[in-house]
Amino acid sequence: MENKGTKLLETEKLLLRRFVIEDGEAMYNNWASDPEVTKFLTWQPHSSIDVTKALLIDWIARYEDLAYYNWVIELKATHEIVGNISIVDLKEKAESASIGYCMSKAWWGNGIMSEALRRVIVYLIEEVGVNRVCACHDSNNPKSGRVMDKAGMKLEGILRSAGYSDNVGIQDIVWHSILRSEL
Ligand SMILES: CC(C)(COP(=O)(O)OP(=O)(O)OC[C@H]1O[C@@H](n2cnc3c(N)ncnc32)[C@H](O)[C@@H]1OP(=O)(O)O)[C@@H](O)C(=O)NCCC(=O)NCCS
Repeated sequence: MENKGTKLLETEKLLLRRFVIEDGEAMYNNWASDPEVTKFLTWQPHSSIDVTKALLIDWIARYEDLAYYNWVIELKATHEIVGNISIVDLKEKAESASIGYCMSKAWWGNGIMSEALRRVIVYLIEEVGVNRVCACHDSNNPKSGRVMDKAGMKLEGILRSAGYSDNVGIQDIVWHSILRSEL
Protein backbone atom coordinates (compact mmCIF):
# COMPACT_ATOMS: atom_id res chain seq x y z
CA MET A 1 0.00 0.00 0.00
CA GLU A 2 1.03 3.61 -0.52
CA ASN A 3 -0.57 6.34 1.58
CA LYS A 4 -2.25 9.06 -0.46
CA GLY A 5 -3.93 11.12 2.26
CA THR A 6 -7.33 12.78 2.46
CA LYS A 7 -8.02 13.24 -1.25
CA LEU A 8 -11.22 14.81 -2.53
CA LEU A 9 -13.73 12.03 -3.27
CA GLU A 10 -17.07 12.30 -5.03
CA THR A 11 -20.25 10.21 -5.22
CA GLU A 12 -23.59 10.84 -6.86
CA LYS A 13 -24.85 13.00 -3.97
CA LEU A 14 -21.76 13.74 -1.91
CA LEU A 15 -18.40 15.44 -1.81
CA LEU A 16 -15.95 13.99 0.70
CA ARG A 17 -13.40 16.73 1.28
CA ARG A 18 -10.89 18.04 3.79
CA PHE A 19 -12.21 20.10 6.68
CA VAL A 20 -11.54 23.83 6.68
CA ILE A 21 -11.74 26.03 9.75
CA GLU A 22 -14.94 27.65 8.43
CA ASP A 23 -16.70 24.27 8.91
CA GLY A 24 -16.52 24.73 12.70
CA GLU A 25 -19.90 26.35 13.21
CA ALA A 26 -21.87 23.91 11.07
CA MET A 27 -20.01 20.93 12.51
CA TYR A 28 -20.83 22.08 16.04
CA ASN A 29 -24.48 22.84 15.25
CA ASN A 30 -25.18 19.85 13.00
CA TRP A 31 -23.61 16.98 14.91
CA ALA A 32 -20.73 17.62 17.34
CA SER A 33 -22.94 19.17 20.04
CA ASP A 34 -25.73 16.57 19.83
CA PRO A 35 -25.88 13.95 22.63
CA GLU A 36 -28.03 11.68 20.43
CA VAL A 37 -25.25 11.55 17.84
CA THR A 38 -22.55 10.79 20.42
CA LYS A 39 -24.64 8.29 22.40
CA PHE A 40 -22.68 5.26 21.18
CA LEU A 41 -19.41 7.08 20.52
CA THR A 42 -16.28 7.34 22.64
CA TRP A 43 -16.43 11.14 22.92
CA GLN A 44 -18.86 13.51 24.61
CA PRO A 45 -20.83 16.27 22.83
CA HIS A 46 -18.78 19.44 22.48
CA SER A 47 -19.64 21.93 25.21
CA SER A 48 -18.99 24.96 23.02
CA ILE A 49 -18.01 25.90 19.50
CA ASP A 50 -14.50 26.64 20.79
CA VAL A 51 -14.03 22.92 21.44
CA THR A 52 -15.01 22.15 17.83
CA LYS A 53 -12.72 24.84 16.43
CA ALA A 54 -9.73 23.68 18.51
CA LEU A 55 -10.27 20.14 17.24
CA LEU A 56 -10.47 21.36 13.64
CA ILE A 57 -7.21 23.29 13.99
CA ASP A 58 -5.53 20.05 15.06
CA TRP A 59 -7.18 17.96 12.31
CA ILE A 60 -6.36 20.46 9.54
CA ALA A 61 -2.69 20.58 10.58
CA ARG A 62 -2.54 16.81 10.20
CA TYR A 63 -3.56 16.81 6.51
CA GLU A 64 0.11 17.19 5.55
CA ASP A 65 0.58 13.62 6.73
CA LEU A 66 -0.35 11.26 3.88
CA ALA A 67 -1.23 8.59 6.44
CA TYR A 68 -4.02 10.80 7.79
CA TYR A 69 -7.52 10.25 6.38
CA ASN A 70 -10.39 12.39 7.65
CA TRP A 71 -13.21 13.70 5.48
CA VAL A 72 -16.13 16.02 6.05
CA ILE A 73 -19.26 14.92 4.16
CA GLU A 74 -20.80 17.70 2.08
CA LEU A 75 -24.10 17.47 0.21
CA LYS A 76 -23.51 18.45 -3.40
CA ALA A 77 -27.03 19.84 -3.80
CA THR A 78 -26.95 22.35 -0.93
CA HIS A 79 -23.28 22.46 0.17
CA GLU A 80 -24.36 21.70 3.73
CA ILE A 81 -21.96 19.60 5.78
CA VAL A 82 -23.66 16.67 7.48
CA GLY A 83 -21.01 14.42 9.01
CA ASN A 84 -17.55 13.01 9.23
CA ILE A 85 -15.84 9.80 8.11
CA SER A 86 -12.23 8.91 8.91
CA ILE A 87 -9.66 6.20 9.43
CA VAL A 88 -9.42 5.72 13.17
CA ASP A 89 -6.74 3.02 13.09
CA LEU A 90 -4.34 2.28 10.23
CA LYS A 91 -2.18 -0.82 10.44
CA GLU A 92 0.20 -0.26 7.54
CA LYS A 93 2.09 -3.55 7.64
CA ALA A 94 -1.18 -5.48 7.77
CA GLU A 95 -2.62 -3.13 5.10
CA SER A 96 -5.71 -2.77 7.29
CA ALA A 97 -7.79 0.35 7.94
CA SER A 98 -10.51 0.78 10.55
CA ILE A 99 -13.17 3.39 9.80
CA GLY A 100 -15.29 5.57 12.08
CA TYR A 101 -18.12 7.92 11.18
CA CYS A 102 -20.90 10.08 12.55
CA MET A 103 -23.66 12.11 11.07
CA SER A 104 -26.15 14.83 11.86
CA LYS A 105 -29.49 13.46 13.03
CA ALA A 106 -31.38 15.71 10.63
CA TRP A 107 -30.12 13.61 7.71
CA TRP A 108 -30.31 10.09 9.17
CA GLY A 109 -32.12 7.51 7.08
CA ASN A 110 -31.23 8.80 3.62
CA GLY A 111 -28.46 6.34 2.84
CA ILE A 112 -25.83 9.08 3.08
CA MET A 113 -23.36 7.28 5.33
CA SER A 114 -23.58 4.04 3.33
CA GLU A 115 -22.76 6.03 0.17
CA ALA A 116 -19.84 7.77 1.89
CA LEU A 117 -18.47 4.56 3.41
CA ARG A 118 -18.63 2.73 0.08
CA ARG A 119 -16.66 5.52 -1.61
CA VAL A 120 -14.01 5.47 1.11
CA ILE A 121 -13.73 1.67 0.87
CA VAL A 122 -13.21 1.85 -2.90
CA TYR A 123 -10.61 4.63 -2.53
CA LEU A 124 -8.65 2.79 0.15
CA ILE A 125 -8.62 -0.54 -1.66
CA GLU A 126 -8.22 0.63 -5.27
CA GLU A 127 -6.03 3.71 -4.88
CA VAL A 128 -4.21 3.38 -1.56
CA GLY A 129 -3.81 -0.37 -1.85
CA VAL A 130 -5.30 -1.35 1.50
CA ASN A 131 -6.25 -5.04 1.74
CA ARG A 132 -8.78 -4.88 4.56
CA VAL A 133 -11.26 -2.17 5.56
CA CYS A 134 -13.13 -2.75 8.80
CA ALA A 135 -15.45 -0.98 11.19
CA CYS A 136 -17.19 -1.77 14.45
CA HIS A 137 -20.27 -0.71 16.32
CA ASP A 138 -21.85 -1.07 19.70
CA SER A 139 -24.35 -3.97 19.67
CA ASN A 140 -27.06 -1.52 20.79
CA ASN A 141 -26.51 0.53 17.64
CA PRO A 142 -27.51 -1.93 14.89
CA LYS A 143 -28.25 0.77 12.33
CA SER A 144 -24.54 1.44 12.11
CA GLY A 145 -24.13 -2.25 11.25
CA ARG A 146 -26.66 -1.74 8.43
CA VAL A 147 -24.48 1.06 7.08
CA MET A 148 -21.52 -1.35 6.99
CA ASP A 149 -23.57 -4.11 5.33
CA LYS A 150 -24.97 -1.75 2.70
CA ALA A 151 -21.43 -0.55 1.91
CA GLY A 152 -20.38 -4.13 1.15
CA MET A 153 -18.81 -5.24 4.43
CA LYS A 154 -19.47 -8.63 6.00
CA LEU A 155 -20.19 -9.43 9.61
CA GLU A 156 -17.05 -10.84 11.22
CA GLY A 157 -18.04 -11.44 14.80
CA ILE A 158 -18.87 -10.03 18.18
CA LEU A 159 -16.36 -9.23 20.90
CA ARG A 160 -18.24 -9.75 24.14
CA SER A 161 -18.08 -6.88 26.68
CA ALA A 162 -15.17 -5.39 24.75
CA GLY A 163 -16.33 -1.78 24.53
CA TYR A 164 -17.20 1.04 26.86
CA SER A 165 -18.91 4.37 26.48
CA ASP A 166 -19.94 6.76 29.25
CA ASN A 167 -23.55 6.67 28.14
CA VAL A 168 -24.16 2.93 27.87
CA GLY A 169 -21.35 1.41 29.94
CA ILE A 170 -19.71 -1.89 28.92
CA GLN A 171 -21.05 -3.27 25.65
CA ASP A 172 -20.51 -5.99 23.07
CA ILE A 173 -18.68 -4.75 19.97
CA VAL A 174 -19.70 -5.99 16.51
CA TRP A 175 -17.04 -6.05 13.77
CA HIS A 176 -17.57 -5.93 10.00
CA SER A 177 -15.01 -5.90 7.19
CA ILE A 178 -14.37 -6.13 3.47
CA LEU A 179 -11.23 -7.51 1.83
CA ARG A 180 -9.66 -6.44 -1.47
CA SER A 181 -10.71 -9.77 -2.99
CA GLU A 182 -14.36 -9.00 -2.19
CA LEU A 183 -14.60 -5.52 -3.73
C1 LIG B 1 -25.21 5.21 12.17
C2 LIG B 1 -25.40 6.38 11.19
C3 LIG B 1 -24.06 6.77 10.63
C4 LIG B 1 -26.31 5.93 10.06
O1 LIG B 1 -26.25 6.86 9.00
P1 LIG B 1 -27.42 6.99 7.92
O2 LIG B 1 -26.91 7.86 6.82
O3 LIG B 1 -28.67 7.36 8.59
O4 LIG B 1 -27.52 5.50 7.39
P2 LIG B 1 -28.57 4.91 6.37
O5 LIG B 1 -29.53 5.95 5.90
O6 LIG B 1 -27.81 4.13 5.37
O7 LIG B 1 -29.39 3.93 7.30
C5 LIG B 1 -28.79 2.79 7.87
C6 LIG B 1 -29.83 2.06 8.70
O8 LIG B 1 -30.14 2.85 9.85
C7 LIG B 1 -31.51 2.66 10.20
N1 LIG B 1 -32.08 3.99 10.27
C8 LIG B 1 -31.68 5.09 9.62
N2 LIG B 1 -32.41 6.14 9.99
C9 LIG B 1 -33.26 5.73 10.90
C10 LIG B 1 -34.25 6.36 11.68
N3 LIG B 1 -34.49 7.67 11.56
N4 LIG B 1 -34.94 5.60 12.55
C11 LIG B 1 -34.70 4.30 12.66
N5 LIG B 1 -33.76 3.64 11.96
C12 LIG B 1 -33.06 4.35 11.09
C13 LIG B 1 -32.12 1.77 9.17
O9 LIG B 1 -32.09 0.44 9.71
C14 LIG B 1 -31.16 1.84 8.02
O10 LIG B 1 -31.07 0.66 7.28
P3 LIG B 1 -32.04 0.43 5.98
O11 LIG B 1 -31.60 1.46 4.96
O12 LIG B 1 -31.74 -0.93 5.57
O13 LIG B 1 -33.42 0.69 6.44
C15 LIG B 1 -26.03 7.59 11.87
O14 LIG B 1 -27.21 7.14 12.49
C16 LIG B 1 -25.15 8.22 12.93
O15 LIG B 1 -24.29 9.03 12.62
N6 LIG B 1 -25.39 7.90 14.19
C17 LIG B 1 -24.67 8.51 15.30
C18 LIG B 1 -23.18 8.18 15.35
C19 LIG B 1 -22.93 6.72 15.20
O16 LIG B 1 -23.64 5.89 15.75
N7 LIG B 1 -21.85 6.41 14.46
C20 LIG B 1 -21.45 5.06 14.23
C21 LIG B 1 -20.66 4.54 15.34
S1 LIG B 1 -20.14 2.88 15.01
